[in-house]
Amino acid sequence: MKKLIAANWKMNKSVEESVSFINEFKKIIKNEKNADVVICPPFTALATLSKELKNSKIKLGAQNMHFEDAGAFTGEISPLMLKDMECEYVILGHSERREIFNESDFLINKKIIAALKHGLKLILCIGENIEQKQSGKTNEVIENQLKNCLKNIDKIQMEKITIAYEPIWAISRGNPNHKAATKEDAEEGHKFIRNVVENMFDKNISKNTRIIYGGSVKPENAKELLSMPNIDGGLVGNASLNAKSFAEIVKAAK
Ligand code: 13P
Repeated sequence: MKKLIAANWKMNKSVEESVSFINEFKKIIKNEKNADVVICPPFTALATLSKELKNSKIKLGAQNMHFEDAGAFTGEISPLMLKDMECEYVILGHSERREIFNESDFLINKKIIAALKHGLKLILCIGENIEQKQSGKTNEVIENQLKNCLKNIDKIQMEKITIAYEPIWAISRGNPNHKAATKEDAEEGHKFIRNVVENMFDKNISKNTRIIYGGSVKPENAKELLSMPNIDGGLVGNASLNAKSFAEIVKAAK
């Protein structure tokens, strides 16, 4: 399956910085067709990047959204607004949303249903924290997140869903020296996720669902992580802020 490499810029980059990234990045990856590429800038840069990415293979994504179409929800952005920006993707359930903004599986499920209703593709993030890992609860946590977040989702809708396995302990939080999961650990997590998806849906869905890895992916480790059989791409934070390093990661996705 074609790999998906997504940039999650988190709360970084002005509009001007976003445009200069795109110009530099486009030049470097001109002939690269091996991977699907999605850029998820902050909301403030969506409108401008949507124009910059017209006629380009690079897709635009948002980092979050509310589940209602419109209304009295101060500070929120609706799926219709993302469609208005010509966003194709939205990241939902990122661990920073879960941990810092108290998003629950229940809320994330509502957002998933809303995103699908409006034809958005989504990247659902799941993953355990360090305490859960150390107490041997990784699989239990991942399975619960999948079952709760994908409640009432049918097989056809699964075509629009990419799952991102982001073990929270592996996320860099801006530290370029932070360690990623080993390729073996990441592969084990992905394999488990694929099995859960098979049990929830069927073998075919499980085989065709992209499961991408996130957590300190960088040019130095991209090739080994992306070569694992169950790793179908990457969700990149810190290393996606630099056009050259993000392009190297995209090029590693053969
Ligand atoms: P880093 O690549 O900075 O570890 O971030 C991963 C992440 O949270 C992407 O969503």
